[in-house]
Amino acid sequence: MDIKEGYYGQWGGAFTPEVLHSTFAELKAAFKKAKEDPAFWQEYVNLMSSYSCRPTPLTAAENLSGLFGGARIFIKREDLNHTGAHKANNVIGQGLLVKRMGKKRVIAETGAGQHGVATATMAAKFGFDCTIYMGEEDVRRQRPNVFWMEKLGATVVPVTDGSRTLKDAINEAFRDWVGSMDDTHYVMGTVCGPHPFPEMVAWFQSIIGIEARAQILDRTGGLPAAVYACVGGGSNAMGIFQGFLNDPEVELVGVEAGGRGLDSGEHASRLAGRDASPGVAQGYKTMFLQNADGQMRDTHSVAAGLDYIGVSPMLTDLWEKGRVRFAAATDAEVMDTLDLTMRREGIIPALESAHGFVQAFKEAPGLSPDDSIIINMSGRGDKDIFTIAHAFNDPSWKEFIIARGKEYAAE
Ligand SMILES: Cc1ncc(COP(=O)(O)O)c(C=O)c1O
Repeated sequence: MDIKEGYYGQWGGAFTPEVLHSTFAELKAAFKKAKEDPAFWQEYVNLMSSYSCRPTPLTAAENLSGLFGGARIFIKREDLNHTGAHKANNVIGQGLLVKRMGKKRVIAETGAGQHGVATATMAAKFGFDCTIYMGEEDVRRQRPNVFWMEKLGATVVPVTDGSRTLKDAINEAFRDWVGSMDDTHYVMGTVCGPHPFPEMVAWFQSIIGIEARAQILDRTGGLPAAVYACVGGGSNAMGIFQGFLNDPEVELVGVEAGGRGLDSGEHASRLAGRDASPGVAQGYKTMFLQNADGQMRDTHSVAAGLDYIGVSPMLTDLWEKGRVRFAAATDAEVMDTLDLTMRREGIIPALESAHGFVQAFKEAPGLSPDDSIIINMSGRGDKDIFTIAHAFNDPSWKEFIIARGKEYAAE
């Protein structure tokens, strides 16, 4: 970290309302104590191995490697975490902190719903009350996750402001926190927001990179040529990248949502695109997609979890320093890649994760069979069944939905 607390180069910081200052001071103190206590990390690792699926496997994608004829492709299986995504790593860690702080209620924002499901699960396990804020558009896109959050005992609040996606859900969660900070912790889902959130979330997600580095050395005897990860806020990417930051020979590639194409304006590419500019919003400084007046723009991605206007200040710094390269994958490329990965490997990546696969598949053929690459598969695609079935225009799925609709209408 840079000398100025909470800054990564010129990015980051903590731009918070005065009323939250004591809450942030309490959180920073609790986090600092936990980070300095090896027993805390051990408790976290133990819980992740008994309650989630850690260490998650590193799967060799033999069929795809054969198809492309270039680098050996490995997939880090964060989809095998309990609740189906890397989000569980961060949420369980913050849950242990909440227990230490003695708070009784948690709130969270969610885009794809995976962070919401993970938070609702953690709240059920630790006995906390739980409220989840979710943009109305994401409620529509990720209905299965809303169902699960409610069944896990959480209250899901659809947010109708703005573009009704992730940024609007974050604003609403902060509004709640200002009025509830005495007994409530805000479980930020990604490496964004005011300090100490980026550092805290990155610390819990570093478990991915620590495991991945040891696993690839064990499997291949060397380091990978490149590591690919999709980037919404940036938590799965920072999680795996941290394992390789001190290995300059390993290229780190973040893949953003190219949506309907970078020239269409309908995307969420902050660093790969040419449209983002420096700004301060939602408590931190980074590159945001905004208009000339500093108003946040609407974004688009087929993947709800990548549909965000900002990006981690940590990643913006690493991008500026040339350590992380950025690329974008379009919605159409993502659907093709999903199809290929399902059919060739029997693996169903989340729409978000499939963005990382797109770029890795573009670059693998240009590498040698002596090289290996790792794709961080941040989550599994079950949650996306409605979106994927719609995009594939699947006739038997449509028939099923129409029949179900008729049954409910007749009730
Ligand atoms: C499966 C999955 N992957 C990736 C993301 C993007 O978040 P991040 O960039 O913080 O990893 C999300 C967010 O909801 C997600 O659910």
